[in-house]
Amino acid sequence: MRWPLLLLLNAARPISTRAEIPAVVTLGNGRRFPLLGLGCASGVRQSHVLSALEIGYRSFDTAQAYQWGYHEEEVGEAVYLSGISREELFLQSKIHPEDFGYAATKRALAVSLRRLNTTYLDAILLHKPRCWPGACARHPEGTWQESWRALEDVLYDGLVRAIGICDVDGPLLEELLQQRQKPHIIQNWMDPFHQDREVRQRCREAGIQYQAYSSLGTQWVHFRGHIFNPVFAHPVLRTIAEQREGNVAQVVLAWALHHGVAVIPASTSRERQRSNLDSFGLQLSPADVARIDGLDGALDPPSAEVTLENSGKSKHSVHSEL
Ligand SMILES: *[C@@H]1O[C@H](CO)[C@@H](O)[C@H](O)[C@H]1NC(C)=O
Repeated sequence: MRWPLLLLLNAARPISTRAEIPAVVTLGNGRRFPLLGLGCASGVRQSHVLSALEIGYRSFDTAQAYQWGYHEEEVGEAVYLSGISREELFLQSKIHPEDFGYAATKRALAVSLRRLNTTYLDAILLHKPRCWPGACARHPEGTWQESWRALEDVLYDGLVRAIGICDVDGPLLEELLQQRQKPHIIQNWMDPFHQDREVRQRCREAGIQYQAYSSLGTQWVHFRGHIFNPVFAHPVLRTIAEQREGNVAQVVLAWALHHGVAVIPASTSRERQRSNLDSFGLQLSPADVARIDGLDGALDPPSAEVTLENSGKSKHSVHSEL
């Protein structure tokens, strides 16, 4: 993979050809942020992180939550084994809502730094805005707002370089914009049938980097009652993939990148990791982009909406991509 080359392409405009897709954008903190990283849940372990590093991935999204399939210390080990210098990498982790509270969040960050074997994180996010029944092993000491104070302070202390939060809706985003330090990154579910346009638009206006999880449709399988992943099955996406001589995952990732959305597809397969990274090479026409934009809301609404919060699921499903 041509990552070192891509690092030079620090274009600000999201456009759709290889040379023009910005591989790296500048966050609100002035730091560089690779738009495509490896999601480290869904069975991704040390050897898979290592293969991604070998292929050219330089950005990794992990979390403290073992129950949701993450293994921070294996990411740290893979980074160490790779011999790649820390400054070349973007390491992002997430604080579990059971660690909400000012002091608890600071303690949790120390755990991440130790497990990842590093002195700083490139980004730390609050993994969910709240606990829900079954999600938290203990009653949190405090609120997400108190945790946000802690994140602001560790940001100023230099232990982290960017802060953010996942699963943000409109009202929460407005509250975040009132904080002393607004988020650098917001990570939400976004895929071709769930495009989250309003939050994305608001993030754009506010200078916040939007990062998509489950961009390849797994939320529909895990929580929305679909037996087959509707993204991989959809005729529009399959047709575009055929015309562009790529696969559906590449089409969807290229479409998200076109919109300036950061993506973190997980995969344990070296070939799939490479193929996902190569989505930078897939050229979408403006008509392709418009057709995919038109898929928003195209799936029948589920009869009863199931989410992580009411599904009873806890394992390996939150951020799984493939
Ligand atoms: C952590 O990194 C240091 C070097 O920075 C290395 O000596 C040590 O072996 C690493 N530990 C693990 C568990 O990878």
